[in-house]
Amino acid sequence: MSNTPNAESAKPPAVTVPGLLRMKREGRKIVMLTAYDAGFAACVEAGGVDAVLVGDSLGMVVQGRQTTVAVSVDDMVYHSRAVARGLRRALLVTDLPFQSYATPELALRNATRLMAEGEAAMVKLEGAGPLLEAIRFLAERDIPVCAHLGLTPQSVHQFGGFRVQGREAEAAERLRRDALAVAEAGAAALVLECVPRSLAAAITAASPIPVIGIGAGVDCDGQVLVLHDLLGVTSGHRPRFVKDFLADGGSVQGAVAAYAQAVREGRFPTAEHGFD
Ligand code: KIV
Repeated sequence: MSNTPNAESAKPPAVTVPGLLRMKREGRKIVMLTAYDAGFAACVEAGGVDAVLVGDSLGMVVQGRQTTVAVSVDDMVYHSRAVARGLRRALLVTDLPFQSYATPELALRNATRLMAEGEAAMVKLEGAGPLLEAIRFLAERDIPVCAHLGLTPQSVHQFGGFRVQGREAEAAERLRRDALAVAEAGAAALVLECVPRSLAAAITAASPIPVIGIGAGVDCDGQVLVLHDLLGVTSGHRPRFVKDFLADGGSVQGAVAAYAQAVREGRFPTAEHGFD
């Protein structure tokens, strides 16, 4: 019977925010993937991920825009709530979209919506420097924050394109400092996007919080990918760090399981999916 104590104890425990830190300390890789609706969320969870990110990448892969800049808080709440309905145990992390956390008060209002209406357990925001105040403001008010550094897609117009970050010594040093600063401000995890492998490895080793990489090499504490990229549902340019797991996996759930296993065994990403 499904509700006997034995059946209950056989269920994997729910993933929590402190659980991510335990995984880092124990050297267990964190597997994260995006999802934007309940059906795929359930499938991704069944494939064995630890955390599901409702990324503002939905502006590109769902809404068909060129960047994430036009995504609204209402969009994020809508998709987060849908994803929450598909999940039972994976940690739900939802993005604060462009300029929705420009001041600590705005960040608090919008993060509260993502948690209360969107059922997120953690919110993600991009940047450090002037954003440290917002990170601290949220963390002190029981809102778990995942920071995002490196190629922060909401800054695409400042960067002049989707480019690898931290290649020059000065930029690398700034990233190292920012990674420590977001942790000091109270962030509970960090996504590090498109930085050279050696830099990501150094940041991960120095970071007191889990570092989840995308295009940042195999030495991070975990990996995240956009679901559409993992399934090969990509039109136009395909980033170097992307691997189509559907070919090996045979089904959506199989592709997710193949990705999860490859991450946990340190077989993904390979050098071919990263930057020097
Ligand atoms: O929006 C998103 O999907 C993200 C991932 C690329 C990390 O931020």
